[in-house]
Amino acid sequence: MLRIGVIGVGGIAQARHLPTFANMKDRVKIQAVSDINSELAQKVATEYDVPVVVQNYEDMFDQVDAVTICTPNKFHANIAIAALEAGKHVLCEKPMALSAQEAEKMVETAKRTGKTLFIGFHYRFMKESQAAKKIMGAGEIGKPLVVRVEALRRRKVPGWGVFTNKELQGGGSLIDFGCHHLDLALWLLGNPEPVEISGATYQDLSTSGDLVNMWGDIDASTFEVDDHATAFIRFRNGASLFLETSWAANVADDKESVRISGDKAGLDVFPFAVYQSKHGLLVDQVPHWLPGPDDPSILQAANFVDSCLGVGEAIVKPEQALQTSRIIDAIYESSLTGKSVRF
Ligand SMILES: NC(=O)c1ccc[n+]([C@@H]2O[C@H](COP(=O)([O-])OP(=O)(O)OC[C@H]3O[C@@H](n4cnc5c(N)ncnc54)[C@H](O)[C@@H]3O)[C@@H](O)[C@H]2O)c1
Repeated sequence: MLRIGVIGVGGIAQARHLPTFANMKDRVKIQAVSDINSELAQKVATEYDVPVVVQNYEDMFDQVDAVTICTPNKFHANIAIAALEAGKHVLCEKPMALSAQEAEKMVETAKRTGKTLFIGFHYRFMKESQAAKKIMGAGEIGKPLVVRVEALRRRKVPGWGVFTNKELQGGGSLIDFGCHHLDLALWLLGNPEPVEISGATYQDLSTSGDLVNMWGDIDASTFEVDDHATAFIRFRNGASLFLETSWAANVADDKESVRISGDKAGLDVFPFAVYQSKHGLLVDQVPHWLPGPDDPSILQAANFVDSCLGVGEAIVKPEQALQTSRIIDAIYESSLTGKSVRF
Protein backbone atom coordinates (compact mmCIF):
# COMPACT_ATOMS: atom_id res chain seq x y z
CA MET A 1 0.00 0.00 0.00
CA LEU A 2 1.40 3.37 -1.02
CA ARG A 3 0.53 6.23 1.34
CA ILE A 4 0.12 9.41 -0.73
CA GLY A 5 -0.02 13.05 0.31
CA VAL A 6 -1.60 15.65 -1.97
CA ILE A 7 0.04 19.09 -1.82
CA GLY A 8 -2.20 21.87 -3.16
CA VAL A 9 -5.83 20.77 -3.35
CA GLY A 10 -7.25 23.25 -5.88
CA GLY A 11 -8.56 22.65 -9.40
CA ILE A 12 -6.45 19.80 -10.79
CA ALA A 13 -6.11 17.97 -7.46
CA GLN A 14 -9.89 17.84 -7.11
CA ALA A 15 -10.58 17.14 -10.78
CA ARG A 16 -8.01 14.38 -11.25
CA HIS A 17 -5.54 13.41 -8.51
CA LEU A 18 -7.90 12.94 -5.57
CA PRO A 19 -10.69 11.03 -7.39
CA THR A 20 -8.17 8.88 -9.30
CA PHE A 21 -6.15 7.86 -6.23
CA ALA A 22 -9.38 7.41 -4.24
CA ASN A 23 -10.38 4.79 -6.82
CA MET A 24 -7.18 2.80 -6.26
CA LYS A 25 -8.03 1.63 -2.75
CA ASP A 26 -6.28 -1.73 -3.16
CA ARG A 27 -2.91 -0.05 -3.79
CA VAL A 28 -3.12 3.55 -2.52
CA LYS A 29 -4.21 5.35 0.60
CA ILE A 30 -4.64 9.12 0.45
CA GLN A 31 -2.99 9.70 3.79
CA ALA A 32 -2.53 13.49 3.89
CA VAL A 33 -3.49 16.76 2.24
CA SER A 34 -1.88 20.16 2.46
CA ASP A 35 -2.89 23.59 1.20
CA ILE A 36 -2.04 27.11 2.27
CA ASN A 37 -5.82 27.53 2.30
CA SER A 38 -6.52 25.43 5.41
CA GLU A 39 -10.28 25.68 5.07
CA LEU A 40 -10.05 24.13 1.60
CA ALA A 41 -7.66 21.44 2.83
CA GLN A 42 -10.08 20.53 5.63
CA LYS A 43 -13.05 20.42 3.25
CA VAL A 44 -11.20 18.10 0.85
CA ALA A 45 -9.96 15.92 3.71
CA THR A 46 -13.53 15.46 4.92
CA GLU A 47 -14.77 14.64 1.41
CA TYR A 48 -12.06 12.03 0.81
CA ASP A 49 -11.75 10.77 4.38
CA VAL A 50 -8.09 11.81 4.64
CA PRO A 51 -6.67 11.44 8.18
CA VAL A 52 -3.86 14.02 8.09
CA VAL A 53 -4.38 17.70 7.24
CA VAL A 54 -1.42 20.07 7.41
CA GLN A 55 -0.80 23.63 6.32
CA ASN A 56 2.96 23.22 5.85
CA TYR A 57 3.59 20.38 3.38
CA GLU A 58 6.80 19.29 5.16
CA ASP A 59 4.71 18.25 8.15
CA MET A 60 3.24 15.34 6.16
CA PHE A 61 6.58 13.81 5.12
CA ASP A 62 6.90 11.42 8.08
CA GLN A 63 3.44 9.97 7.35
CA VAL A 64 3.55 9.35 3.59
CA ASP A 65 5.58 7.37 1.02
CA ALA A 66 4.85 9.65 -1.94
CA VAL A 67 3.46 13.08 -2.68
CA THR A 68 1.66 14.62 -5.60
CA ILE A 69 2.34 18.32 -6.17
CA CYS A 70 -0.61 20.33 -7.48
CA THR A 71 0.42 23.87 -6.55
CA PRO A 72 1.14 26.79 -8.88
CA ASN A 73 4.29 26.19 -10.96
CA LYS A 74 6.54 28.44 -8.83
CA PHE A 75 6.46 25.97 -5.95
CA HIS A 76 7.00 22.73 -7.93
CA ALA A 77 10.81 22.63 -7.68
CA ASN A 78 11.17 23.51 -3.99
CA ILE A 79 8.45 21.11 -2.88
CA ALA A 80 9.71 18.29 -5.13
CA ILE A 81 13.29 18.69 -3.92
CA ALA A 82 12.23 18.78 -0.25
CA ALA A 83 10.07 15.68 -0.70
CA LEU A 84 12.80 13.74 -2.55
CA GLU A 85 15.35 14.72 0.12
CA ALA A 86 12.91 13.36 2.71
CA GLY A 87 12.91 10.05 0.81
CA LYS A 88 9.48 10.45 -0.80
CA HIS A 89 8.47 9.61 -4.38
CA VAL A 90 7.07 12.59 -6.29
CA LEU A 91 4.36 13.03 -8.90
CA CYS A 92 4.60 16.70 -9.88
CA GLU A 93 2.07 18.41 -12.10
CA LYS A 94 3.27 19.88 -15.36
CA PRO A 95 5.15 22.01 -16.21
CA MET A 96 8.06 20.48 -14.31
CA ALA A 97 9.24 23.87 -12.95
CA LEU A 98 9.52 27.54 -13.81
CA SER A 99 12.81 26.98 -15.65
CA ALA A 100 15.19 24.29 -16.89
CA GLN A 101 17.64 25.38 -14.20
CA GLU A 102 15.14 24.42 -11.48
CA ALA A 103 14.22 21.25 -13.37
CA GLU A 104 17.91 20.23 -13.47
CA LYS A 105 18.10 20.44 -9.66
CA MET A 106 15.00 18.25 -9.42
CA VAL A 107 16.56 15.62 -11.72
CA GLU A 108 19.83 15.70 -9.79
CA THR A 109 17.99 15.23 -6.48
CA ALA A 110 15.92 12.33 -7.83
CA LYS A 111 19.07 10.61 -9.11
CA ARG A 112 20.89 11.06 -5.83
CA THR A 113 18.00 9.91 -3.65
CA GLY A 114 16.93 7.09 -5.97
CA LYS A 115 13.26 8.08 -5.66
CA THR A 116 10.70 8.30 -8.48
CA LEU A 117 10.25 11.80 -9.90
CA PHE A 118 7.36 11.73 -12.34
CA ILE A 119 5.97 14.78 -14.17
CA GLY A 120 2.24 14.82 -14.93
CA PHE A 121 2.43 14.86 -18.72
CA HIS A 122 -0.82 12.94 -18.95
CA TYR A 123 -1.16 13.39 -22.74
CA ARG A 124 1.33 10.50 -23.05
CA PHE A 125 -1.29 8.27 -21.42
CA MET A 126 -4.10 9.05 -23.86
CA LYS A 127 -5.21 6.06 -25.89
CA GLU A 128 -4.21 7.77 -29.13
CA SER A 129 -0.74 8.60 -27.78
CA GLN A 130 -0.19 5.04 -26.59
CA ALA A 131 -1.22 3.74 -30.03
CA ALA A 132 1.11 6.20 -31.77
CA LYS A 133 4.01 5.12 -29.53
CA LYS A 134 3.38 1.48 -30.51
CA ILE A 135 3.36 2.32 -34.23
CA MET A 136 6.49 4.46 -33.90
CA GLY A 137 8.21 1.75 -31.84
CA ALA A 138 7.45 -0.85 -34.51
CA GLY A 139 9.23 1.36 -37.06
CA GLU A 140 6.10 1.65 -39.21
CA ILE A 141 6.58 5.26 -40.17
CA GLY A 142 10.33 4.81 -40.74
CA LYS A 143 12.57 7.76 -39.99
CA PRO A 144 10.54 10.70 -38.62
CA LEU A 145 11.21 13.81 -40.71
CA VAL A 146 8.72 16.60 -40.11
CA VAL A 147 6.54 17.07 -37.05
CA ARG A 148 3.68 19.58 -36.73
CA VAL A 149 2.33 20.34 -33.28
CA GLU A 150 -0.73 22.51 -32.77
CA ALA A 151 -2.27 23.23 -29.38
CA LEU A 152 -4.79 25.94 -30.08
CA ARG A 153 -7.71 27.25 -28.14
CA ARG A 154 -9.98 29.95 -29.47
CA ARG A 155 -10.46 32.65 -26.85
CA LYS A 156 -10.07 30.36 -23.84
CA VAL A 157 -7.56 31.93 -21.49
CA PRO A 158 -7.96 30.30 -18.03
CA GLY A 159 -9.69 33.06 -16.09
CA TRP A 160 -9.32 31.37 -12.66
CA GLY A 161 -6.30 30.67 -10.45
CA VAL A 162 -2.98 32.40 -11.20
CA PHE A 163 -2.43 31.37 -14.84
CA THR A 164 -1.71 34.89 -16.10
CA ASN A 165 0.82 35.69 -13.34
CA LYS A 166 4.37 35.36 -14.68
CA GLU A 167 6.08 35.13 -11.30
CA LEU A 168 3.91 32.20 -10.18
CA GLN A 169 3.55 30.37 -13.51
CA GLY A 170 6.69 31.26 -15.51
CA GLY A 171 4.74 31.86 -18.72
CA GLY A 172 1.39 31.35 -20.38
CA SER A 173 0.04 29.28 -23.26
CA LEU A 174 3.41 27.68 -24.07
CA ILE A 175 4.49 26.52 -20.60
CA ASP A 176 0.93 25.72 -19.50
CA PHE A 177 -0.83 24.20 -22.51
CA GLY A 178 1.57 23.67 -25.43
CA CYS A 179 3.99 21.92 -23.06
CA HIS A 180 1.74 18.81 -23.16
CA HIS A 181 1.78 18.50 -26.94
CA LEU A 182 5.46 19.41 -27.23
CA ASP A 183 6.34 16.79 -24.61
CA LEU A 184 4.17 14.21 -26.37
CA ALA A 185 5.82 14.86 -29.75
CA LEU A 186 9.31 14.68 -28.23
CA TRP A 187 8.47 11.40 -26.49
CA LEU A 188 7.05 9.86 -29.68
CA LEU A 189 10.24 10.87 -31.51
CA GLY A 190 12.38 9.21 -28.82
CA ASN A 191 13.48 12.52 -27.29
CA PRO A 192 16.01 13.49 -29.97
CA GLU A 193 18.61 16.13 -29.17
CA PRO A 194 17.65 19.65 -30.33
CA VAL A 195 20.37 21.68 -32.08
CA GLU A 196 18.61 24.94 -32.92
CA ILE A 197 15.41 26.58 -31.70
CA SER A 198 13.72 29.69 -32.95
CA GLY A 199 10.59 31.03 -31.28
CA ALA A 200 8.18 33.93 -31.09
CA THR A 201 5.69 34.61 -28.32
CA TYR A 202 2.85 37.14 -28.14
CA GLN A 203 0.51 38.58 -25.54
CA ASP A 204 -1.31 40.99 -27.78
CA LEU A 205 -4.61 39.14 -27.81
CA SER A 206 -5.13 39.38 -24.07
CA THR A 207 -3.75 42.87 -23.54
CA SER A 208 -5.60 44.59 -26.36
CA GLY A 209 -8.33 45.57 -23.93
CA ASP A 210 -11.32 44.05 -25.71
CA LEU A 211 -10.71 40.34 -25.17
CA VAL A 212 -13.79 38.22 -25.51
CA ASN A 213 -12.91 35.17 -23.41
CA MET A 214 -14.95 31.99 -23.03
CA TRP A 215 -13.20 30.85 -19.84
CA GLY A 216 -13.85 33.77 -17.48
CA ASP A 217 -12.84 37.39 -17.22
CA ILE A 218 -9.29 38.45 -18.04
CA ASP A 219 -7.73 41.57 -16.58
CA ALA A 220 -5.54 43.07 -19.32
CA SER A 221 -3.70 45.23 -16.77
CA THR A 222 -2.38 42.18 -14.87
CA PHE A 223 -1.89 39.88 -17.87
CA GLU A 224 1.87 39.15 -17.88
CA VAL A 225 2.31 35.98 -19.95
CA ASP A 226 2.20 34.72 -23.54
CA ASP A 227 -1.16 33.86 -25.08
CA HIS A 228 0.21 32.70 -28.43
CA ALA A 229 3.58 31.15 -29.36
CA THR A 230 5.31 29.63 -32.36
CA ALA A 231 8.58 27.75 -32.67
CA PHE A 232 10.73 25.89 -35.12
CA ILE A 233 13.06 23.21 -33.74
CA ARG A 234 15.82 21.38 -35.60
CA PHE A 235 17.14 18.12 -34.13
CA ARG A 236 20.59 16.57 -34.49
CA ASN A 237 19.06 13.54 -36.23
CA GLY A 238 17.75 15.81 -39.03
CA ALA A 239 14.08 15.90 -37.97
CA SER A 240 12.33 19.25 -37.54
CA LEU A 241 9.28 20.36 -35.58
CA PHE A 242 6.83 23.24 -36.06
CA LEU A 243 4.94 24.28 -32.95
CA GLU A 244 2.01 26.65 -32.60
CA THR A 245 0.18 27.04 -29.33
CA SER A 246 -2.35 29.51 -28.03
CA TRP A 247 -4.94 30.09 -25.36
CA ALA A 248 -6.74 32.71 -27.39
CA ALA A 249 -6.04 32.37 -31.12
CA ASN A 250 -8.32 33.94 -33.68
CA VAL A 251 -8.88 30.65 -35.49
CA ALA A 252 -12.00 28.77 -36.61
CA ASP A 253 -11.94 26.37 -33.70
CA ASP A 254 -9.83 24.69 -31.02
CA LYS A 255 -7.26 22.26 -32.39
CA GLU A 256 -4.97 19.74 -30.70
CA SER A 257 -2.81 17.99 -33.23
CA VAL A 258 0.47 16.10 -33.34
CA ARG A 259 1.29 15.02 -36.88
CA ILE A 260 4.44 13.09 -37.76
CA SER A 261 5.56 12.56 -41.32
CA GLY A 262 8.25 9.90 -41.79
CA ASP A 263 10.10 8.49 -44.78
CA LYS A 264 7.89 5.34 -44.88
CA ALA A 265 4.55 6.58 -43.56
CA GLY A 266 2.96 9.24 -41.38
CA LEU A 267 0.53 9.50 -38.54
CA ASP A 268 -1.88 11.81 -36.77
CA VAL A 269 -2.21 11.31 -33.04
CA PHE A 270 -5.55 13.16 -32.65
CA PRO A 271 -7.68 11.64 -34.09
CA PHE A 272 -5.44 8.64 -34.54
CA ALA A 273 -4.68 7.60 -38.12
CA VAL A 274 -1.74 6.15 -40.04
CA TYR A 275 -1.01 7.13 -43.63
CA GLN A 276 0.87 4.53 -45.70
CA SER A 277 1.51 3.35 -49.20
CA LYS A 278 0.82 -0.37 -49.70
CA HIS A 279 0.73 -2.47 -52.88
CA GLY A 280 0.86 0.67 -55.03
CA LEU A 281 -2.05 2.20 -53.09
CA LEU A 282 -2.22 5.08 -50.63
CA VAL A 283 -3.93 3.69 -47.56
CA ASP A 284 -5.32 5.52 -44.52
CA GLN A 285 -5.61 3.30 -41.46
CA VAL A 286 -8.11 4.35 -38.83
CA PRO A 287 -8.52 1.99 -35.85
CA HIS A 288 -11.95 0.60 -35.10
CA TRP A 289 -11.10 0.57 -31.37
CA LEU A 290 -8.26 1.76 -29.19
CA PRO A 291 -7.55 -0.01 -25.88
CA GLY A 292 -7.30 1.81 -22.58
CA PRO A 293 -9.42 4.02 -20.32
CA ASP A 294 -10.91 7.27 -21.63
CA ASP A 295 -9.34 9.17 -18.73
CA PRO A 296 -5.53 9.21 -19.10
CA SER A 297 -5.10 10.11 -15.41
CA ILE A 298 -5.99 6.51 -14.55
CA LEU A 299 -3.05 5.07 -16.52
CA GLN A 300 -0.76 7.85 -15.34
CA ALA A 301 -1.59 7.22 -11.67
CA ALA A 302 -1.18 3.45 -12.12
CA ASN A 303 2.19 3.91 -13.82
CA PHE A 304 3.36 6.27 -11.06
CA VAL A 305 2.31 3.82 -8.35
CA ASP A 306 3.99 0.91 -10.21
CA SER A 307 7.20 2.91 -10.33
CA CYS A 308 7.03 3.82 -6.62
CA LEU A 309 6.37 0.20 -5.64
CA GLY A 310 9.17 -1.01 -7.91
CA VAL A 311 6.90 -3.15 -10.10
CA GLY A 312 7.05 -1.10 -13.31
CA GLU A 313 9.07 1.47 -15.17
CA ALA A 314 7.88 5.09 -15.22
CA ILE A 315 6.78 6.20 -18.69
CA VAL A 316 7.61 9.83 -17.93
CA LYS A 317 11.32 10.05 -17.14
CA PRO A 318 12.49 13.22 -15.37
CA GLU A 319 15.34 13.70 -17.89
CA GLN A 320 12.76 13.81 -20.69
CA ALA A 321 10.65 16.39 -18.83
CA LEU A 322 13.84 18.41 -18.28
CA GLN A 323 14.42 18.39 -22.03
CA THR A 324 10.90 19.78 -22.56
CA SER A 325 11.72 22.52 -20.02
CA ARG A 326 14.99 23.33 -21.85
CA ILE A 327 13.14 23.69 -25.15
CA ILE A 328 10.45 25.90 -23.59
CA ASP A 329 13.16 28.11 -22.04
CA ALA A 330 14.87 28.35 -25.46
CA ILE A 331 11.62 29.39 -27.18
CA TYR A 332 11.11 32.16 -24.60
CA GLU A 333 14.76 33.23 -24.92
CA SER A 334 14.64 33.27 -28.72
CA SER A 335 11.47 35.35 -28.64
CA LEU A 336 13.12 37.84 -26.30
CA THR A 337 16.40 38.19 -28.20
CA GLY A 338 15.03 37.78 -31.72
CA LYS A 339 17.76 35.19 -32.38
CA SER A 340 17.67 31.42 -32.53
CA VAL A 341 19.17 29.44 -29.64
CA ARG A 342 21.81 26.84 -30.53
CA PHE A 343 22.51 23.88 -28.28
N1 LIG B 1 -2.25 18.17 -16.26
C1 LIG B 1 -3.04 19.17 -16.63
O1 LIG B 1 -3.58 19.20 -17.72
C2 LIG B 1 -3.24 20.31 -15.67
C3 LIG B 1 -4.46 21.00 -15.66
C4 LIG B 1 -4.61 22.05 -14.75
C5 LIG B 1 -3.56 22.41 -13.91
N2 LIG B 1 -2.39 21.71 -13.97
C6 LIG B 1 -1.24 22.11 -13.13
O2 LIG B 1 -1.59 21.91 -11.76
C7 LIG B 1 -1.01 22.94 -10.95
C8 LIG B 1 -2.11 23.60 -10.14
O3 LIG B 1 -3.09 24.11 -11.02
P1 LIG B 1 -4.62 24.29 -10.54
O4 LIG B 1 -5.40 24.60 -11.76
O5 LIG B 1 -5.03 23.15 -9.69
O6 LIG B 1 -4.46 25.60 -9.65
P2 LIG B 1 -5.39 26.08 -8.44
O7 LIG B 1 -5.05 27.51 -8.24
O8 LIG B 1 -6.80 25.68 -8.70
O9 LIG B 1 -4.88 25.20 -7.19
C9 LIG B 1 -3.62 25.36 -6.60
C10 LIG B 1 -3.74 25.12 -5.10
O10 LIG B 1 -2.44 25.15 -4.52
C11 LIG B 1 -2.53 25.82 -3.28
N3 LIG B 1 -1.18 26.28 -2.92
C12 LIG B 1 -0.50 27.34 -3.39
N4 LIG B 1 0.73 27.37 -2.83
C13 LIG B 1 0.83 26.30 -2.01
C14 LIG B 1 1.84 25.80 -1.15
N5 LIG B 1 3.02 26.41 -1.07
N6 LIG B 1 1.58 24.67 -0.43
C15 LIG B 1 0.40 24.06 -0.51
N7 LIG B 1 -0.62 24.50 -1.31
C16 LIG B 1 -0.40 25.60 -2.04
C17 LIG B 1 -3.54 26.92 -3.52
O11 LIG B 1 -4.10 27.41 -2.33
C18 LIG B 1 -4.57 26.18 -4.39
O12 LIG B 1 -5.57 25.57 -3.61
C19 LIG B 1 -0.29 23.89 -11.91
O13 LIG B 1 1.06 23.57 -11.94
C20 LIG B 1 -0.92 23.59 -13.27
O14 LIG B 1 -0.03 23.78 -14.37
C21 LIG B 1 -2.23 20.66 -14.81
